[in-house]
Amino acid sequence: MKLQTMAGQQVALTAHELARQWRVSFRPKVAIVLGSGLGTVVSALTTEGSIGYSSIAGFPQATVEGHAGLLTYGHWHNVPVVCLQGRAHLYEGHSANTVVLPIRSLMYLGVDTVIITNASGGIRSDLAPGNLMLIRDHLNLTGTSPLLGPNEQSFGPRFPDMSAAYSPELRKIAHEVAEDAGLQLLEGVYAGVLGPAYETPAEIKMLKSIGADAVGMSTVLEVIAAVHMGAQVLGISCVTNPAAGIKQGPLRHEDVKVEAQAAHKQITTLMDGVFGRLESP
Ligand code: HPA
Repeated sequence: MKLQTMAGQQVALTAHELARQWRVSFRPKVAIVLGSGLGTVVSALTTEGSIGYSSIAGFPQATVEGHAGLLTYGHWHNVPVVCLQGRAHLYEGHSANTVVLPIRSLMYLGVDTVIITNASGGIRSDLAPGNLMLIRDHLNLTGTSPLLGPNEQSFGPRFPDMSAAYSPELRKIAHEVAEDAGLQLLEGVYAGVLGPAYETPAEIKMLKSIGADAVGMSTVLEVIAAVHMGAQVLGISCVTNPAAGIKQGPLRHEDVKVEAQAAHKQITTLMDGVFGRLESP
C-alpha cells in the first residue's frame, strides 16, 4: 500500500506497531468497538491477548469513565476479532483523524467488518431505556469528517458512497439472530452530535424533525472512515435514557453507564449469533 498523506503514514505506523505487539499469526477479520459501559461484552471472546492503548504508538487515550482503553484480540466462533474497549471522542479534544485512527489501523491490517456499539438517548417514542436499536442510517451532525484534507487514495475514493453505510446484509442477519433468540431489536436513525453537553429539549425537537430516532456523541466518524476503506458495518445502539425533554428529569452519565451495562447480555447474545453465522468455513 503506497501511503501519500500524513494521515495515511500515521495509520501505517500504528498498524505496524500493533502487528509487532500481537502474534504474527494473528490476522483480524472483524473489529468491534465497545461503547460506554459495554466493555464486558469482551468476555465472550476466546482471548489471545490484550494491549493497553497507552502502549500503542499513536492511539488516542480513552479518558472517559466507562471506557477501559484496552485492545483485546482473540476469536469469537473461530472468527479472528479485535475488540476496542473504549474510544476517543471529538469532545475530548481529539481531531476527527485521531478519533478514527484505531479503526483505520485495524482496517489496514485486514479487517473487513466493523461492529460498532454505542449508548444513545431515545428520541422516537418506542425507544425506551434498555432497548437495542440497530442503526439503519446516521446523521453526521458533528460538523466535521475524518476525510477532510488530502484524500488517502489507497484507503478509498475522494467521494465515498454512503447510501448503504450500515450493511443491509448484516442487518438482515442481526434481525434473524434476534428473532431466533427472542430478543427485541428495533431499528432506526442515529444522530451523531459533538457533545459533551447533553442536548437541550429544543435540540431534541429539532433532531426529531430532521429524522433522528436516537442521539449520541460517537460512531458517525468511525463509520465514515470504515466505509471509506471498504468495510461492511453493523451498528448497534443501546438506548440508555429518554433524550432530553422526552421525559422529566436530568440526564447523567452515571445512569447511561448503568443502563448500558444492563444491556451487555443482550448485545453479547446478538453478537454471538452474528458470529455464529460469519464463522469461517
Ligand atoms: N444524548 C447524547 N448522547 C448520549 C445520550 C443522550 O441522551 N445518552 C447516551 N449518550
